[in-house]
Amino acid sequence: MKLNEKQLQDFKRQFSTILNEKDIITDKETIAPHLLDWVGNFNGNSLLMLTPRNKEQVSSILSLCNEKDIAVVPQGGNTGSVASGIPNGEIILSLRKMNKIMGIMPDDYSITVESGCILSQVQDAALDASRFFPLSIGSEGSCTIGGNISTNAGGISVLKYGNMRDLVLGLEVVLPDGRILNGLKRLRKDNSGYATKHMFMGAEGTLGIITAACLRLFPKIENKVTAFASLKDLGATIQLLETLKSFSGELLSSYELIPKIGLDIALSYGDNLKSPISNAEDWNVIIEYSDTKNNDDANESLQNTLSHAIEKKLVCDAAIASSLSQTQNIWKIRKAIVEHQPKLGGEIKHDVSVPVSCVPEFIRSTTQKLIDYLPDVRPVPYGHIGDGNIHFNVCPPSNYNPETFLQKTDEIREIVYGNAFNFGGSFAAEHGVGIIKKKQMLKYKDKVELQLMKDIKSFLDPKNILNPGKIF
Ligand code: MLT
Ligand code: ZN
Repeated sequence: MKLNEKQLQDFKRQFSTILNEKDIITDKETIAPHLLDWVGNFNGNSLLMLTPRNKEQVSSILSLCNEKDIAVVPQGGNTGSVASGIPNGEIILSLRKMNKIMGIMPDDYSITVESGCILSQVQDAALDASRFFPLSIGSEGSCTIGGNISTNAGGISVLKYGNMRDLVLGLEVVLPDGRILNGLKRLRKDNSGYATKHMFMGAEGTLGIITAACLRLFPKIENKVTAFASLKDLGATIQLLETLKSFSGELLSSYELIPKIGLDIALSYGDNLKSPISNAEDWNVIIEYSDTKNNDDANESLQNTLSHAIEKKLVCDAAIASSLSQTQNIWKIRKAIVEHQPKLGGEIKHDVSVPVSCVPEFIRSTTQKLIDYLPDVRPVPYGHIGDGNIHFNVCPPSNYNPETFLQKTDEIREIVYGNAFNFGGSFAAEHGVGIIKKKQMLKYKDKVELQLMKDIKSFLDPKNILNPGKIF
């Protein structure tokens, strides 16, 4: 059930037995930013937002909601790309006030945090203890750890450190009926039955509310080396990746595809950005090495590997950043592509993955299919190709009517998702399903797996009070 105006006063009174008055919010202006999907696909609505300060309060809220059959949408930093935190009449339960670093255990390489901690706060806390927390995504200054876990966030360091799922040792979760699952263990090994924590990661808040997590830390990074390389052709992207992996092993931490059209977008619209090399080819990559040693090893290794790749004619030209500002310039190019792409007359975003070896052929054939459908269309496939994850965004032909282009969304989506499926890929690589990809979930997910997911949902949340209408 969604809350209506009539019930509002009654529920405010009931929640006031659990929360302080200032944590029960009905002010429309305060709630407004929590209704906005930053990608711009949805505008939500909600009459009430609750901001609990501890797990006991979350537990009491969910028990009450379960008893009264009231639906709740958990929300962290509200930076997701698929609108899974956007309410449609449900109560918003914001975790942002639960933002304490609960403990850091350097010898165990672990940190325990409340789920409303901002990602950069966790990164900083790790650094203060001479440790490293590797999750790195564009919204790290405003997204929360709970949201990162609930969406199994990815980003630019998955290649070396894995997805968010790989960084979680233990979870504390409040179940839809209010029970608290206390799994805050900092163990690397625990084979005592089902790894139930994994059910809540990537569940987008549909199975439980994550209130705290114990996360993995790594040795502090002392030296980072960043390069921009322009490649012979698309196939060379994966050949170069293989060369980098076999020459430098653990040093390689990021490998990001930058198509020429993406570089042009960044240079045209970004703030004072410079091309790292003078004549970039159609396909380029950003390479980053991360080393725990503070010496020239990483730099030398990258230099040698790139020289070898130039000799082998995989790489046409490359530049290794030799100052902080050059490094920042390279990463700002990467960020500017995301930010400024809509200026090409609109964009249709896709976050897909295919096996790494299939990346070049997938990009080639999807581009061809798109051109067959709409001549002169401008695909902008970029991103984490070291993980087989491509942000295959599509922009209209120059001077094309933006509205006519957006009317083609369903067809364009089916071309990209359908082709990813043909390559054994996924329609949702790192951003999740939310509201946006429910149709694809029905179409592309294995039927038995989908039914199993629905069975788990109805077992844990028979009244469907947690984030209803999301995922399926
Ligand atoms: C990125 O890798 O920059 C993001 O995942 C792209 C996006 O948010 O669309
Ligand atoms: Zn991404």
